Amino acid sequence: MSNPSILILAGDGIGPEVMGEVKKIITWYGDKRDLAFDVSEDLVGGCAYDKYGTPLHDDTMAKAQDVDAVLLGAVGGPQYDNLDFSVKPERGLLRLRKEMDLFSNLRPAQCFDALADFSSLKKDVVAGLDIMIVRELTSGIYFGEPRGIIEEGNERVGINTQRYTESEIARVARSAFELARKRGNKVCSMEKANVMESGILWRQVVTEVHDAEYPDVELSHMYADAGAMQLCRWPKQFDVIVTDNLFGDLLSDAAAMLTGSLGMLPSASLGAPMENGRPKALYEPVHGSAPDIAGQGKANPIACILSFAMALRYSFDQGAEADRLEQAVEKVLADGVRTADLLGPEGGVPVSTSEMGDKIIAALDASL
Ligand code: IPM
Ligand code: MG
Repeated sequence: MSNPSILILAGDGIGPEVMGEVKKIITWYGDKRDLAFDVSEDLVGGCAYDKYGTPLHDDTMAKAQDVDAVLLGAVGGPQYDNLDFSVKPERGLLRLRKEMDLFSNLRPAQCFDALADFSSLKKDVVAGLDIMIVRELTSGIYFGEPRGIIEEGNERVGINTQRYTESEIARVARSAFELARKRGNKVCSMEKANVMESGILWRQVVTEVHDAEYPDVELSHMYADAGAMQLCRWPKQFDVIVTDNLFGDLLSDAAAMLTGSLGMLPSASLGAPMENGRPKALYEPVHGSAPDIAGQGKANPIACILSFAMALRYSFDQGAEADRLEQAVEKVLADGVRTADLLGPEGGVPVSTSEMGDKIIAALDASL
């Protein structure tokens, strides 16, 4: 049997640097755990625009459809801010999500013990926090039609449409319930059924799927604005949160901040199973391309490394190896190793991007 395949799209800004550390870890798994991957690389985002005039070349799209998992770094940068909307770096990412039909976006918000002091909230509110936000990723207002900027009378009108079919809601709900069963067995669904018809339907369909297929899972509902408030007040009340594309975008950033560092958080975007039984999948850190520190060896590679851990778990059925990698990261943090973004007010000497990667590899070695 051939090795599982990975397409690396490192992208822009700090993407290539943090992905460099992931490549070392992939090599480690081949050498030390007999887990070899066929790795190929390509461009996405601004760098693809520079080379091809498009943020995602059709050939790259075709490759992404063909591999077992895509690992993405980050896209964007100030030099692309004034590009036409249709070729902005983000469009490359959105095209991957849409054409691969990656409807279920898993965004864990987990507070590492060693970093609990970093949250803007009190330590006891966030210590031990472990929530999973499941964001619908291929529909809703991000993709709904009609959209555009039109002329009406003598002024311009900006239009986007929130649209959800019941099957789109049902499939992401199932994915949330399945995850909950492997965790704390609780799902909180968030929408705005008080003002939006799509929210009314969302609540109905989530409830129907629950009652018919997952009655053993505890289900609650919240309006998304109240949910945002509850996330800040007492986030540990949540286990899995399932919500739509736009609310999920906002709530997952808020949840990320609770944990103290955006540089730590991975994500997985999963679609339907392929012929080999693996889900279509793309893994990426939640942070952006951080152009201000790009190329300086300052970036924290942990979010990207933990995204690979999610790939081990969700694409390659290597849960124990994913645990090993996550524990190696925790060990290094507990030892006080810090990239610049993780230095508190008391300061200290930061390690570089590649030193952090090396420390994690040393911790992996020590785990054998
Ligand atoms: C995210 C980002 C993207 C989104 C952007 C870069 C298109 O904010 O992944 O959360 O809005 O989905
Ligand atoms: Mg976002």
